[in-house]
Amino acid sequence: MFNIEKSIIQKVEIESLNERSIKLYIKRDDLIDENVSGNKWRKLKYNVDYAIQMKNEGILTFGGAFSNHLLATAAACQKIGIKSIGIVRGEELNSSSNDTLKNCETMGMQLVFISRDKYSLRNEKFFQEEVSYEYSNYHIIPEGGSNYYGLIGCQQILLETTNDFDYVFVAQGTTTTSAGILLSLPEKSMLNVVPVLKGFDSIGEMKNLYNHSGFEDSFSNEILNRVEVLSDYHFGGYGKYTNELLVFMEEFYSKTNVPLDPVYTGKTLFALFDWIEKMNVQDCSILFVHTGGIQGGKMIAKKEGRTFS
Ligand SMILES: Cc1ncc(COP(=O)(O)O)c(C=O)c1O
Repeated sequence: MFNIEKSIIQKVEIESLNERSIKLYIKRDDLIDENVSGNKWRKLKYNVDYAIQMKNEGILTFGGAFSNHLLATAAACQKIGIKSIGIVRGEELNSSSNDTLKNCETMGMQLVFISRDKYSLRNEKFFQEEVSYEYSNYHIIPEGGSNYYGLIGCQQILLETTNDFDYVFVAQGTTTTSAGILLSLPEKSMLNVVPVLKGFDSIGEMKNLYNHSGFEDSFSNEILNRVEVLSDYHFGGYGKYTNELLVFMEEFYSKTNVPLDPVYTGKTLFALFDWIEKMNVQDCSILFVHTGGIQGGKMIAKKEGRTFS
């Protein structure tokens, strides 16, 4: 439905990397689709297949006011011809509050705005039962596409590469993408994750997701040994950024023409370059998984009068 062959592997030619004999590649999942970009189709593919198999009327999911996942769900459902419902955090919002919500509605998504307090209960059993009862013929996907089907979709990413990199770098929000990637990471490689939330328990969250998805503890403990968490690159927390980050992203864009966003991919690539310097990394191969977020990146670039997206 969405063409994953557009996700090419791009080699980055930057002098500072060549001097260290570092080969840096980017898996360009951002090129898959304008709206269903980056990790979004990875997380949605098997959820969509499930909804079709079950003959569901549509897909219901959750997100904040600027959620890339809500937009991607609306676009995917429109393309397949099933309905979509987005439960949005913030009862003060409406469909004209920003471009993300406007576009969701234009693509046919029914938006339901709820209070932050109520939204914080979204993973509680009673809340889920209430939603399942009210929307009984909808396939319900958690916020950020964070379920078994999302995980298995993300497992595919490395399988489209030579999969022989020393290090793989990826941004972390819900951990679905990184946990999926880890399932296909070879033993000789390390997965370097960059959480974009302040004080985030990366390993604990990955473990929870494996646990909820039916994996044994012994298995998750074993593979989680191959994860390094770079936890100091949240730039103040989710959605926050500094001038230093924006300058870095502009420079990277001017050298490579690869667009970034300051919420996920910009922070991760900044962490990658900083890690190379601080750890004096030499002579290795690194894959950076571009997880998309470009529509949000464009909005921020416009607002800040910058060129990185
Ligand atoms: C552009 C982008 N990159 C990375 C992530 C983080 O992925 P995950 O939530 O699977 O950890 C997200 C959130 O889904 C995202 O929108």
